[in-house]
Amino acid sequence: MAESTPESNLQLRSKVTSDGQLELSFQRMAIGEPKPNELIVRVDAAPINPSDLALLLGPADLTQAKIEGDGENRVISVPLSDLHAKMLSPRKDLSICPGLEAAGTVVAAGEDCKDHIGKTVAIFGGSMYAEYRKISVEDCMIFPEGVDPADCASSFVNPLTALCMLDAFHREGHKAIIHTAAASNLGQMLVKLCNEDGIPLINIVRRESQEEVLRVLDAQYILNSESPTFVNDLTKAIRETEATLAFDAIGGGAMASTILQAMESVYAPKEFYIYGSNVHKQVYIYGILKPGPIEVHRTAGMAWSVSGLLMMNYIGRLDAPTAQKMKDRIVGNYDKAFKSRYLDTVALKDMLDVSILNTCNSRSTGKKYLLTPHAAS
Ligand SMILES: NC(=O)c1ccc[n+]([C@@H]2O[C@H](COP(=O)([O-])OP(=O)(O)OC[C@H]3O[C@@H](n4cnc5c(N)ncnc54)[C@H](OP(=O)(O)O)[C@@H]3O)[C@@H](O)[C@H]2O)c1
Repeated sequence: MAESTPESNLQLRSKVTSDGQLELSFQRMAIGEPKPNELIVRVDAAPINPSDLALLLGPADLTQAKIEGDGENRVISVPLSDLHAKMLSPRKDLSICPGLEAAGTVVAAGEDCKDHIGKTVAIFGGSMYAEYRKISVEDCMIFPEGVDPADCASSFVNPLTALCMLDAFHREGHKAIIHTAAASNLGQMLVKLCNEDGIPLINIVRRESQEEVLRVLDAQYILNSESPTFVNDLTKAIRETEATLAFDAIGGGAMASTILQAMESVYAPKEFYIYGSNVHKQVYIYGILKPGPIEVHRTAGMAWSVSGLLMMNYIGRLDAPTAQKMKDRIVGNYDKAFKSRYLDTVALKDMLDVSILNTCNSRSTGKKYLLTPHAAS
């Protein structure tokens, strides 16, 4: 394939203005020549993940959106409340191109990696909601010839997080995992991985339709948090599996506490002891699906921990061979355990559409969009 550095690069930008607005717009920029270890990737597909929405829209209320212009000249402005403007003040006047991950085709490369030209790669590192991304060769996974970029666009964020969960499970010596918001794309990956690896997984969802999504995948334990028997069901599953580890994507509210309390009811000593059981119970909060304070009630004894988990920090602490093993597992199973599902695709120039942004922002099961920057509008 002939090398060609694109002359310009259309990007989606999100900015918090000094007069308290969230402003979404497009910007055409030069991309420049790659350094020796850099690739220029034509972005063919990029998922719109919950973490991307936090950067793209933040807490903006889209019912207040003002829309001006069309095509590349479209601008959406949303007034922020005083509280939200204060929260976002570190971002003031900073124009950001969102999109943590993507997949595409290498169209140009620096002298040390020319052999990558023409290959399909998944890439990670932000600024993916664009036509092209210049990126270091270390931040890509190479896929076999013929793989459709749409099928490997979600190869970093959710797959690596699911594999970090399994790594923590093994390192900390647990016997089973509890997972909330379990019908998410990540949750479905975790079901398949736990089935492959023989790890008992207790899935917590909040709707009957989500129970069915997981049943199709042969999930062993599927509990509905809206069921009147939820706490009993959870306690029974913990007793059967001896679970002491949970990953909670909901974050706000009392779910972490409910899980810790159910664990404690299983592990509490028979004789009364004021400090409760000495079995360590671990909840990792890894999402903010429900904003607001995380409640932890004092009903789980003293041997527990609730901590945050961010994939990038976790991967950063791993040795290089362990991280590489995870990436190899993803490349080898991109269309099986790590397959993601999308409601629809959207071209870059069509993305500043309030109805599409609202659907993405619902963060609901099966409502994820795949951005396909070069598709016709
Ligand atoms: N910490 C990290 O490093 C890291 C990395 C990757 C992903 N994540 C997090 O992982 C989560 C899943 O990501 P994804 O891309 O797989 O999501 P997704 O496919 O968009 O699915 C989101 C799921 O969350 C459920 N949900 C939304 N709000 C909820 C609430 N308040 N209570 C309970 N369930 C709720 C939805 O169910 P309904 O249909 O019922 O709304 C849906 O099943 C996200 O929170 C994301 O931020 C974190």
